[in-house]
Amino acid sequence: MLLPRYITGIRRLALPQPSAEHLPAPPVGILNDVWIEIADGSVIRIGPEGEPAPPDAASEQVWDASGMLATPGLVDPHTHPVFVETRQGEFVRRCRGESYSQIAAAGGGILSSVRGVRAASEGKLVGLLLGRLDRFLELGTTTIEAKSGYGLTAEDELKSLRALRAASAQHPIGISPTLLAAHVVPPEYRDDPDRYVDIVCDRIIPQAAEQGLVEAVDLFLEEGAFNLSQAQRIFEAGRQAGLGLRIHADQFTSSGGAELAAEFGALSADHMDRTDEAGILHLARAGVTVVLLPGAVFFLGLEDYAPARRIIELGCRIALSTDFNPGSSPTQSLPLMMTLGCIKMGLTPAEALWAATMGGASATHRADRSGTLLPGYDADICLWEAEDIDCIPYACGDMIPAAVFKRGRLVAERGRRVEPDGR
Ligand code: NIG
Ligand code: FE
Repeated sequence: MLLPRYITGIRRLALPQPSAEHLPAPPVGILNDVWIEIADGSVIRIGPEGEPAPPDAASEQVWDASGMLATPGLVDPHTHPVFVETRQGEFVRRCRGESYSQIAAAGGGILSSVRGVRAASEGKLVGLLLGRLDRFLELGTTTIEAKSGYGLTAEDELKSLRALRAASAQHPIGISPTLLAAHVVPPEYRDDPDRYVDIVCDRIIPQAAEQGLVEAVDLFLEEGAFNLSQAQRIFEAGRQAGLGLRIHADQFTSSGGAELAAEFGALSADHMDRTDEAGILHLARAGVTVVLLPGAVFFLGLEDYAPARRIIELGCRIALSTDFNPGSSPTQSLPLMMTLGCIKMGLTPAEALWAATMGGASATHRADRSGTLLPGYDADICLWEAEDIDCIPYACGDMIPAAVFKRGRLVAERGRRVEPDGR
């Protein structure tokens, strides 16, 4: 059944608590032996504990979870899905000892993906995106933030964003689109990066906003990308355009990104692998969600994972994300990020689940409709053949939901996308 009214026989239901109520590490409530009632894509009722099915449900309205674990659909708040080619050649070079930054300095890295996106038609990008969106659903992710950032001209950034909008119109996954025109300085402006920043601020940001293509503006603050004063200008322009703000910062070097994100009241500060205590305190006070990206640290073979325990202790809200991109993190699996969050960053499985659901919802401005399954929230639901939530990070990326529902509709089953006609 594609659109059940009831999901019954839920052995355990995980309910991440909305973030506003419980900073900084809110609990995940667990209810045993319950059912969920869905109407118009939302959860409208959760049955009382100990009662696996409502007495009055007709069988044709019921999806029987047969003792499974139910969690909210996962929310991934940082992805770069608009690219053409994968970059396994660079992976091989890194295996042989070259570093990510050496490869980038030699014209590879982000710039090699830029060449691919510039040469691609919008239709080609849409086709590639649709396959990647399917994969997110199959892995349990029902909402993503998705960035442009491999175009680096007004035309190619807007083309990437239009491709995202077109793919989104044909696909059930939820998408929060972000403009990342300030990913790196394009080769044409290598000798005059400030001129490129002018174009980003004066043309690309206003156009993307006017055309209603984005919710937020992102930038990469790093040696070899953009500096602090350029970042400030880009944030000003984003604020002026009425957009949310995000930042990639403190990934390889510590650069004042945390303070900047706090000063501008950014939606999220991402990476933060090298942020110091003062920076974390600024983020906590300003209520900026820290998006942890352990996949990029792992895949680049680095050692400095964000100090997540300290980030939580100092009162910051956290989210977990894949950073899905062809260079530093080719995985789309949030369950694998939960494992890395636990093993490499000291999160508990409950914190990791919270970060991969409510944390992501907070970082994408969706904490009122995504990230938990309390009545009124979207019926974005994963069913897992698992005894409890600890089993998800324990499986080390190997656990795929038995069923995934987006706004109440079955969209994936056992790792395979289910089309609207049931195929
Ligand atoms: O988030 N930090 C900058 N950008 C990406 C990497 C993109 C790429 O290598 O293509 C990141 O890790
Ligand atoms: Fe990224």
